[in-house]
This record gives sequence, structure tokens and C-alpha cells, in this order.
Amino acid sequence: MELSLVLTTLTIVTFISTVTSQSPIQNFVSCFSKFHEPSHSPITQVIYTPNNNTFSTILNQHIRNKRFKLDSTPKPLAIITAKSASDVQATVKCAKSNNIQIRIRGSGHDYEGYSYVSDVPFIILDMFLINGINIDIHNEVAWVESGATLGKLYYTIGKTSDLYAYPAGICFSLSVGGHFSGGGYGPLLRKFGLAADNIVDAKIVDVNGKILDRKAMGEDLFWAITGGGGASFGVILSWKIKLFKIPNLVTVFHVTKTLEEGAINLVYKWQLIASKLPDELFILAKPKVVKNAKDGKKFVQVHFIGLFVGTNKELLPLINKNFPELGLKTSDCHQLPWVRSTLIWNDLPIEANLKALLDEPKANQTVYFKGQSDFVKKPIPKVGIKAIFQKMIEDDSFFMYWTPYGGKMDKISTSATPFPQRKGTLFMIQYTNYWLEDTPGTIERQINFSRSFNKFMTPYVSNSPRASALNYRDADIGANHPSNVTKMEISKVYGIKYFNDNFGRLVNVKTKVDPSNFFRYEQSIPTKLK
Ligand SMILES: Cc1cc2nc3c(=O)[nH]c(=O)nc-3n(C[C@H](O)[C@H](O)[C@H](O)COP(=O)(O)OP(=O)(O)OC[C@H]3O[C@@H](n4cnc5c(N)ncnc54)[C@H](O)[C@@H]3O)c2cc1C
Ligand SMILES: *[C@@H]1O[C@H](CO)[C@@H](O)[C@H](O)[C@H]1NC(C)=O
Ligand SMILES: *[C@@H]1O[C@H](CO)[C@@H](O)[C@H](O)[C@H]1NC(C)=O
Ligand SMILES: *[C@@H]1O[C@H](CO)[C@@H](O)[C@H](O)[C@H]1NC(C)=O
Ligand SMILES: *[C@@H]1O[C@H](CO)[C@@H](O)[C@H](O)[C@H]1NC(C)=O
Repeated sequence: MELSLVLTTLTIVTFISTVTSQSPIQNFVSCFSKFHEPSHSPITQVIYTPNNNTFSTILNQHIRNKRFKLDSTPKPLAIITAKSASDVQATVKCAKSNNIQIRIRGSGHDYEGYSYVSDVPFIILDMFLINGINIDIHNEVAWVESGATLGKLYYTIGKTSDLYAYPAGICFSLSVGGHFSGGGYGPLLRKFGLAADNIVDAKIVDVNGKILDRKAMGEDLFWAITGGGGASFGVILSWKIKLFKIPNLVTVFHVTKTLEEGAINLVYKWQLIASKLPDELFILAKPKVVKNAKDGKKFVQVHFIGLFVGTNKELLPLINKNFPELGLKTSDCHQLPWVRSTLIWNDLPIEANLKALLDEPKANQTVYFKGQSDFVKKPIPKVGIKAIFQKMIEDDSFFMYWTPYGGKMDKISTSATPFPQRKGTLFMIQYTNYWLEDTPGTIERQINFSRSFNKFMTPYVSNSPRASALNYRDADIGANHPSNVTKMEISKVYGIKYFNDNFGRLVNVKTKVDPSNFFRYEQSIPTKLK
């Protein structure tokens, strides 16, 4: 009797002391367990903590930039590989009640690693397992879960029909959660606009752990997540998108020119015409530093890669009339179903097995990189183009995508979505500086090069504001550290660069839907100052 009383007292004491000494993450795990349906999947297959041997495998599986895969990179307290909407709801509720910051990760392409790194204690909510796609061809729509990759979306559309397409990015492994909510552009942008322009409904888990569709969230929040970045507002579960009719065959081409072959004149001419061509024709210019295998000498090559929504027979006269300098020949052109055309942007042969769209990137494709973006509104003079190419050759492995605007982009108003770069833009520049060396000092040296390149471009690109694209996340335009406090004076700088006049409306929406600023990270939308 006495003994049992002592034991009971001991148990109570131990129990109380465990409760009081539990860390926030332990509390999070117990909280999550209460919501979790073990019949769905054992909890050990949903929550990974650092003492689980698969923790680093799961962590590294969706890190696409080696700059944030270092031993010194801060690691999460736990990773939740959500398998259902209720796992997402539980994560939000339990992280909020324990005041733990979350990072929402789709497929981990964020240029600055903001989906899986933080300078304050955090957990990762991994969305890659929530990736179903449901196509309703009869109504020309599809529901796409946020962890689905672009490759899976394109593959599934192509499997269903050769007569439909969706305008979005070129890299197959991007997830639609991050990509669509930040804009999302690709070879169909002149014809159909951005991925974010063509979303008709969405499901989101809000700060209270509630699932809202477009009707329930209201037009302001719906507007905010279609270009303002999802992670400031909630967790995107799925998008409903409008599919577009397309001919059963489209035409692609890829022509490469060196400076000796007149690349400077060609690029000069390209920027005058590329945004004014018929909407069906998209010609990307990709200047790239190449190293000669024999003598190691570096030179600049410009790739002109085209997609024409139509046939060969219509394309050639169009090019001969507007851009004869390109010297496009019938033998350069390939007619194929749209889904196959997506291969060429990934340097894959057009006859490749379409299953390649579903492949995870190989581990050795993960490189160190720093990316940035700019918008060009007036033609760059030939001397400027020449100087830019001379500057880029200082680096060993630098390339740019020059993406023409015009077409549908001119017809959508600057406030229709938070993405403001529309009419008046000739083209957008994406800079990619990548490297393979792990040697000490390389990261700093390369980042320095990117910054000096950025400075060098100032006279040629947009100013007041000098605009940036959210999907080409750039920490150099301001970031909150520590990331758990979102300062207006810092946020205003990146906010205006990314969203221009739309920033104010984003702040209003944020203040309304997440007044406690739970969904925050280095470049999130701040709440209004009280
Ligand atoms: C190799 C490469 C190629 C690219 N090509 C293109 C291109 O052709 N066109 C283009 O427009 N962009 C392109 N991008 C940029 C790309 O669109 C962005 O990096 C985009 O944010 C990636 O989304 P993600 O979900 O894969 O990345 P993540 O790093 O997982 O997420 C990016 C951001 O979105 C948030 N997020 C992710 N999922 C959700 C969700 N479910 N709910 C709420 N927030 C979420 C994250 O928290 C983070 O803030 C490319 C990037 C890379 C690295
Ligand atoms: C680690 O994860 C695996 C796979 O889900 C699981 O089987 C195992 O029980 C976990 N181990 C621990 C210590 O949580
Ligand atoms: C932010 O994080 C820092 C470091 O972890 C902590 O000291 C501070 O109290 C946090 N602030 C808020 C508002 O959560
Ligand atoms: C990556 O590995 C594959 C084989 O798995 C190889 O074919 C390819 O050349 C490698 N790529 C690089 C950049 O090393
Ligand atoms: C990078 O730039 C900074 C600031 O200009 C400079 O102090 C530093 O020495 C540079 N580092 C390298 C490796 O070039």
C-alpha cells in the first residue's frame, strides 16, 4: 500500500517533470500524434527527427542547391512528410501552438533554400508525397496536388490527350506548389500567360488549420496566392487549372551561334522582334559560356531555342520574314506532340522515352548555384551586348535565359495577379552562375562574381524599381534575419522589386488572413504596422 503510493507519487512527479521539461519539438510530436490517423500510415513514416537514420536522406532528397547542403547549413528539428491533408492541418496547428517556425517544401528548388533552411529553430513540412493529378478533359480542367512535379503534369496531360497543354516552366522537377504560387513561366507564356494566370480554384490550409477553397478563402487571398508566393499565406494543397487546346503537332527548333557567326547582331535583332512576333512563336535566347575541350579556351555561344504552336510550313515563312538572319532551315525544325516538345528545354533527345519527365534529378546534377533575374524594357545597344558577353566569360560556367515577353503578357493587367511584369517588358533575364568545386572560398568568390555581374547590368535593365522575379529568389535584395521577425523596412525593398504596386494589397491580405504572422520566412509578406 505504502509502496504503491510512493510509486504513484513518483509516477506523477516523473510525469509532471516530463511534461514541463518537454521541448517544443517533443510537444509538437505529441500534439501531432493526437491528430494523426495511424490507420493511414504509421507515425514513424510521417515524422523524421535527426535520430532517425533516414533523416538526412529525406532532407537531402529535395535540396537542389549545394550551397545549402553543407555541414554548416542549419538543419530542421523534424521533417514531416505529409501524406494527406490532415497531416498538413495537424502540422500547422501543432507548430502554431508550440511556436515553431515551419518551412513548406514542394520540391526544393528555391534559389536561396528558403523552403528548407532557417536561422531560427524550424521544421520542414514536405509536400512531395501529396502529388495526385486528376484530369477532367471533358471540362478542360485538372486538379493538381501541390507536390506534383511539372514533369508529372505534362506527362499526365500528354497521356490523356495530344490536344491539350498547360503553360508553365521548363524544368520537370519543379513542384507546382512553389512554382505556380510564384508566377511560373515557360515557352507558352506568349500564347497563354503564366501558370499563375490560369488557375481557376485552389485548396489551401490556412493559419487555423482549416481547408479553404476559392469560395471559402475569398478573392483577395486567392489573388495573393496566384503569384504572391504561397508560403506567406498558408499551405497550398492543390490547384484547379484550365487546360488549353493546342494543335496535335507543334514545331521546335534549336540553333546555336558563336560570336564569330554573328551572335551579337542576332541577339540585337532578336530583342527588337521577339516580343512582337505572333503569340504562337516563342524564341528563347540562351547565351552560355563554353569551354573548348581541347585547349580549355572559353567562348560564348548563343542558343536560340524555339517553340511554334503550329506547323513547319507556317513557321519558316514567319521566320524568313521577321528574323531571316537566324538562317533557320527545314532540317532544324521538328514537328511533334506538345508533350514531347518539353524535352528539348531539358537537353533531352526528342525521341526520348516520355517517362524521362517523371525522373528525379540525378544526385550529380545538384550543383552549387546563385541565380538572379532582371527585366529589360528598352533594347540593349550592340556595344552593350558585346560588353555583357565579355563580362560573362570571366566566369567558367555562366548562362542566361533571355525570355521574350509580349503576346498574352501584354494583355493581362499588372494587377490581375501579384506578378506585375507585363506590358512594356521586352524580355526577362535569368542569370545562372553554377559551379562544381567544393574548395574553400569558392562560394564566396562565385557569389562575388554574381554580384559584380548584377551591378554591371544596371544600365541595361529596369530601374525604379529594379524588378526581380519571386521565383528567382535573390537574398541580395533584402532578407529578414532572424527570419522569425518580418521587418517592414526590409520587406518593402524586396516586396516592391517582386510585386511593385501590388505589394500594398499583399500586405493587406496578409494582415487579414495571418495577423500573427505565423507563415513567415526571410522574404515573406509582412503584416501591416500597428
Ligand atoms: C533548375 C531550375 C529550373 C527552373 N526553371 C524555371 C522555369 O522554367 N520557369 C520558372 O518560372 N521558374 C523556374 N525555376 C524557379 C522555380 O519556379 C522556383 O524555384 C519555384 O519556387 C520552385 O518551386 P518548388 O516548389 O519546386 O520549390 P521549393 O523550394 O520547394 O519552394 C519554393 C517556395 O515556394 C514555397 N512552397 C512550396 N510548396 C508550397 C506549398 N504547397 N504551399 C505554400 N508554399 C509552398 C516554399 O516555401 C518556398 O517559399 C527554376 C528553378 C530551378 C532550380
Ligand atoms: C525511422 O523511420 C523509419 C521509416 O519510416 C521507421 O521505420 C523507424 O521506426 C524510424 N525510427 C525511429 C527511431 O523513429
Ligand atoms: C526569434 O528567434 C530568436 C532566436 O531563436 C529568439 O531569440 C526570439 O525570441 C524570436 N522572436 C520571436 C518574435 O519569436
Ligand atoms: C551523372 O551521372 C550519370 C550516370 O549516372 C552520367 O551519365 C552523367 O554524365 C553524370 N553527370 C555529370 C554532370 O557528372
Ligand atoms: C568578396 O567580396 C568582398 C566584398 O567586396 C571582399 O571583401 C572579399 O574579399 C571577396 N572575396 C573573394 C573570395 O573574392
